[in-house]
Order: sequence, then C-alpha cells, then structure tokens
Amino acid sequence: MTDTTASARPDDLAARRAALALLEAALSRRAGIDEAASSLKIQALEPRDRAFARALTLAALRRLGVIDRLLAARLNREPPDRVRHILRLGVTQLFWMDTPDHAAVSTSVALADGERATRPFKGLVNAVLRGLLRDGAPADDPEALAPAWLMARWTSAWGPESARAIAAQIAAEPATDLTARDNGDLEVLAAELDAVLLPGGTLRVAQRGDPAAWPGFAEGRWWVQDAAAAVPARLLHLNAGQTALDLCAAPGGKTLQMAAAGAAVTAVDRSAERLKRVAENLARMAVSAEVVAADAGDWADARQFDAVLLDAPCSATGTFRRHPDVLWAARPGDIAKLAAVQSRLLDSAARRVVAGGVLVYCVCSLEPEEGEGQVSAFLARNPDFSTDPVAEGEGGAPAASRTAEGWLRLLPHQRDGGQDGFFVARLRRN
Ligand SMILES: C[S@@+](CC[C@H](N)C(=O)[O-])C[C@H]1O[C@@H](n2cnc3c(N)ncnc32)[C@H](O)[C@@H]1O
Repeated sequence: MTDTTASARPDDLAARRAALALLEAALSRRAGIDEAASSLKIQALEPRDRAFARALTLAALRRLGVIDRLLAARLNREPPDRVRHILRLGVTQLFWMDTPDHAAVSTSVALADGERATRPFKGLVNAVLRGLLRDGAPADDPEALAPAWLMARWTSAWGPESARAIAAQIAAEPATDLTARDNGDLEVLAAELDAVLLPGGTLRVAQRGDPAAWPGFAEGRWWVQDAAAAVPARLLHLNAGQTALDLCAAPGGKTLQMAAAGAAVTAVDRSAERLKRVAENLARMAVSAEVVAADAGDWADARQFDAVLLDAPCSATGTFRRHPDVLWAARPGDIAKLAAVQSRLLDSAARRVVAGGVLVYCVCSLEPEEGEGQVSAFLARNPDFSTDPVAEGEGGAPAASRTAEGWLRLLPHQRDGGQDGFFVARLRRN
C-alpha cells in the first residue's frame, strides 16, 4: 500500500529534515507528534513540505515494527538513534510512499551527510537501503506491526485472533470522523461532505486534507471525533435542564456533545493550556459550558450533578490509528501507574453524582487494567453504585463490543474502516 496523501519534490531535504525531527520527538523524547508539529520550525515550512513531513512520519510509525525487523536483519551493530531514524524514514519511502527509489536513497544519504554526528554513517545508510531495495517490499504480517509486549498483552486479554485483527489496523490510514452539533443536520451534512453516516450518527469522511477547509467547519456545524469516542457521551442521554460534569474534558469532544444536548455542563481539566482548546471549540460551535482548571481528584467543589463523565487519562493505546506513536512511547510500567490515577479519579467522580444519577467511565485504552479491572474494583469498593447495562447497539456501538456485564469493549477492528479502542461502562448511583 502506498501513501499518496502527500508528496514532496523528490530531492527536497527540508521536508525530510522535518520528518526526522518529528520521528525523533515521537520516539526518543516520547513527545506527541502533534505537539512537535506545532513547533515554529515546522510551521515555517511550505504547506506542501509540512504535509509531506507529517505523512512520512506517520507512515514510518504505522510500519515501525516491520521496518525495525527489516533493519535488524541488515545491521550487525546498533547505530546511533538518529541514524536509525534516518534509515526508518528511508525504508518507509522505499516501500510505502510514492517517492522514487533513487530519491529515497539519495535524500537519506544526504540527511546523514548533513550532520557531523551522522556523517560517518552515510555509507551504511546507502548500503542498507540499497540492500533492502534489492530484497523487495516485505509481506504484511500484522504481528510485526505492534511492539511485542503489547501484542502479548492483547493476545492474553482478547485472544490471538482479535489481537491480530487489532494489530492489522495499525498500518491502515483512518478516515476522518465527525460529530454533528445538531442531529437534524446529519443528512444534509452527509451530502455536503460526501460522508457515510454510521450507526449512532457519526459522519465518516473519506476525503483528506485540512478539515478546517470543509463545509460546515467555520459555521460550527460539526467537530472531529472518532466514531468510538462519540459513544460514551451518548450513553448519558442528556436532556435540556439536566446538570452534567465532564471531568478530564480537554480538548472537549465530549463536552461539546453534552452541551449540544442542552445540558448545563461543567468541564474540568487540570491543564489550563488544553482548556483553551475547549473554550475555542465551544465558541466555534456556539454552545456554552462552565470551564474549570482543576485536578479532578481534589477539585474543591461540593456540587453534585445528574450525570458525570470521566474520560480518564490512560495509556491511550486505543488511539494508535491516528497516533501510532503511542504504541512506541508506552512502557509496560506506565499501565499500573495510570491505573492508580484512574482509581483515584473514579472515586472523586462518584462523589459528584446525585442519588439516582449516572456515571460514565471511559478510557481510550486497550488494556483491561484501565477498563474492566478498574470498574470491577470500583464496584467492589462502592456498593452504592451498580452497572446500568448498555443495550445492544446503544449509542451506535457495534454489537460485538458489548460485554457480558453490559459494558463496552470497543476494539479497533469491530467496525468497517476501523475505530479507536475504548472501554466504556455506565454506572448508576442507587
Ligand atoms: C483522554 S483526555 C480527555 C479527552 C476529552 N474528554 C475529549 O473527549 O476531548 C484526558 C485529559 O485528562 C486531563 N487530566 C489528566 N489528569 C487529570 C487530573 N488529575 N485532573 C483533571 N484532568 C486531568 C488531561 O489534561 C487530558 O486533557
């Protein structure tokens, strides 16, 4: 499969240098590529080069497991990180971008030649890439796409077949999903955007490019939100006149759903910086919510709400379709640390629910300790809460995602064209 979303002049180095910076940020510094892409240097590039740098980095991250296997077979010794990144970008262009082979090799050699630390390795870069070119494109093997430790986890949690199906999604470039502010506008928007309408009301758009340029963006008729990410807030069934709390709200996709439903929404997040995005999104959509910068675990506010949604910080392994870097930035030890945070936030969220009120807990993680394990432990220590089972198809969730307990375990392959991985449980205060 060739990535055709962006191409660069065959010999252009600025775009490749930017891709190198992005890959390094994602892998060596564990900084998100979106954050790295907002750096001034990358913003200063021509739009076409910027788009190419981003597409190349994402393509490399989507095949990183396969690429590293290819490189392992060709390298006798571990090269410095930066040389490995140059090789990874070179291999990506050889097999999965529409860069001509000679340009993939020559620009990689030029990247190595451009810095004192990598210059001694330019012969190695040339030899390795030419060798791989002679071998030809590798066969697609889903198991090679995920880090081995995550593949082992998914196999033990979801079974070998599902684990392979999940991993197969890593290489796929996802469509863009949108949520409409007003469900009455869905049919018209589907026609204007040439979108497919998914169960639950998500619009799936196949076209590429900057969504800000698409019909309805400036008028605030929709926002970008993955089909699975749109499910949790739908399970609240909010009406005008109800009060609702969105803990861990930024950048605000679920806040927007709750506010668009007419509820009086309070959105809390501990990051004032990320809350700016919530405020911008609310303004564009012309809906309102109270926005509060606070730690959801010890927010000193005694109010209780009809509905509380906790979209807790997590390993985010379910978001690999748009953020393949999460797979390579995550460490096995992160999961236990995050599970401790989730349990503290869940107890805090529970205290803020009125008697008879509803609490939706969700995480964009594929790890059971952050989902099923978290809710089982919560129910054991909070006997005044019980599961309010999700009905089949409720909120647009695929039937296969419903668990025996009435929770949702949304796996990436359970929808045609894929979806983010999520765990969702709806709990009711007795
Ligand atoms: C998964 S994201 C939330 C996504 C958001 N609900 C949406 O739909 O757009 C998790 C958020 O939790 C916030 N966060 C992490 N720890 C927190 C804490 N202790 N209190 C409040 N917010 C926290 C992060 O700043 C981040 O914005």
